Amino acid sequence: MADNKAEFQAGGVSHNFNIKDGAIGPSVVDISSLYKNSGMFTYDPGFTSTASCESKITYIDGDQGTLLYRGFPIEQLADHGDFLETCYLLLYGELPNKVEKDDFVNRVTYHTMIHEQMSRFFSGFRRDAHPMAIMVGTVGALSAFYHDSTDIADPHQRMIASLRMIAKMPTIAAMAYKYHIGQPFVYPRNDLDYASNFLHMCFAVPCEEYKVNPVLARAMDRIFILHADHEQNASTSTVRLAGSSGANPFACIAAGIACLWGPAHGGANEAALNMLSEIGSVDRIPEYIARAKDKNDPFRLMGFGHRVYKNYDPRARIMQKTTHEVLGELGIKDDPLLDVAMELEKIARSDEYFVEKKLYPNIDFYSGITLRALGFPTNMFTVLFALARTVGWIAQWKEMVEDPSQRIGRPRQLYTGYPERDYTPIDQRR
Ligand code: CMC
Repeated sequence: MADNKAEFQAGGVSHNFNIKDGAIGPSVVDISSLYKNSGMFTYDPGFTSTASCESKITYIDGDQGTLLYRGFPIEQLADHGDFLETCYLLLYGELPNKVEKDDFVNRVTYHTMIHEQMSRFFSGFRRDAHPMAIMVGTVGALSAFYHDSTDIADPHQRMIASLRMIAKMPTIAAMAYKYHIGQPFVYPRNDLDYASNFLHMCFAVPCEEYKVNPVLARAMDRIFILHADHEQNASTSTVRLAGSSGANPFACIAAGIACLWGPAHGGANEAALNMLSEIGSVDRIPEYIARAKDKNDPFRLMGFGHRVYKNYDPRARIMQKTTHEVLGELGIKDDPLLDVAMELEKIARSDEYFVEKKLYPNIDFYSGITLRALGFPTNMFTVLFALARTVGWIAQWKEMVEDPSQRIGRPRQLYTGYPERDYTPIDQRR
C-alpha cells in the first residue's frame, strides 16, 4: 500500500485506488472504479468493512466507546443541552445561539398539530395493533396530507418537511398509544417544552388535570438526545437508500421506522425488558448466561453487543444514570428488574465469553427499565426510539439529497443461483 494509494492485484493485473482520509477514524479505500477497471465487485455482506457514504454528522469510535454529534460528545449534550437544541445541531451543523434557538423552537412548535383528517386514519387500525405498525402506516401517510412539502428538489419544502416530522412525531406517537389503550387523543400543548408536551399527550386525560413532573420530562428529553442519531446504522441506511431514488421524505422516514422495528435494532429495548421479566430473579441468571453462550440455542442477551461498540456503549452509561434518577424521583426503591439487570451486567462482564467477544451493554439494556418506570408499556419503547431518531434520519437524508454527487443506491451481488436454462412446459416438470 503506497502513501495515499491502495494496490489490488487480480489476474496478474494491479489496480490502484485512492485512499481517502476522514477527519478522524479509519481511512477508506475508494473502490468506486473497481468494477469498471477489473470487472469485479467487492463482497461485504452486512457492510462490516464498507463505508456507504461520506458524512459530517455523527462519529462513533467503537473501540473507545465515543459518540460525537457534529463533534460534540454525547455526554456533554446529554448533561447540558436539550433535545431541540440537539435537533438544530444535527440539522444545521452548529449549536444555535439564543435567537436561533428561540426561532427554531417556535418553528417546530408551530407544526405540532396534525391534519384533523389524519386522526380518522387511526381508527382504521385494530385496537391491538402494535404501535410501531401504526407508526409505519401513519408516518407514510403524511405524504398524502402535506403535498406542499414533498418536492425534494426545493430546499424550502425540504426544511418544512423536516420541521413537520420533528414536530408531529410526538403527536403521532402519543395518538398511536392513546388509540391502543382506548383513550381519547390529547391535542399538543404549545406552552410546554418538547418532552413535557409528549408526556402530556400520552398521560393526560380530559377528565382531570395532569401536571408534568419536570424531573421526568428532563429524563425523557435526555432519552431523546441519546437516541437522536447513530451514523450509518440499519434504519439510517434504509432511509438513505429509500431517499436515493428521490422518494418523498415522509415515505423515507416510514421506511426507517419499519427497519428500526426489528429486534436486532430498535426493537431490542422491548426485547431486553421482556427478557429481564422472563429471567425474573437473580438466581435464574446463570441459566440465561449459559443459553446465550450455547451455539445451539438462538437465545441472545438482548441489550448486549453492538456491531460498532467493542467497549461500553456511552449511551448505556448515561441511560443507567437516568434510570436511577427516574426511579429515585418516583420513589421506587426496589425494582426487581433493575436488580436482575445490574447482576446480569456484572456476571456477563466478568464471563470469558462476553469479555472475549467484547459484548457490553448497549443503550437498550437500561432504557426499557426507565421507560417502564415513566409509565410506558413495552410495545411503546421502539416508538419512542423512532420519535427521537427521526431527526437523525432527516439530517442524514438532507445531507444525502444536498450532496451534488448523490446517485441512486444500487448494491451489486454475488450470484450463486442457476446459470441460464430453458423454460420447461408444465407437463414435462417433475
Ligand atoms: N448474546 C450472546 N452472544 C452474542 C450477542 C448477545 N447479545 N451478541 C453477539 N453475540 C455473539 C455472536 O453469537 C457471535 O458469536 P460467534 O462469533 O461465536 O459466532 C459474536 O458475538 C458476534 O456477533 P454478531 O452477531 O456477528 O455481531 P453483529 O455485529 O452482527 O451483531 C448485534 C450486533 C447488536 C445485532 C448483536 O450483538 C445482537 O444481536 N445483540 C442483541 C440485540 C441488541 O441488543 N440490539 C441492539 C443494538 S443497539 C441499538 C440499536 O442500534 O438499535
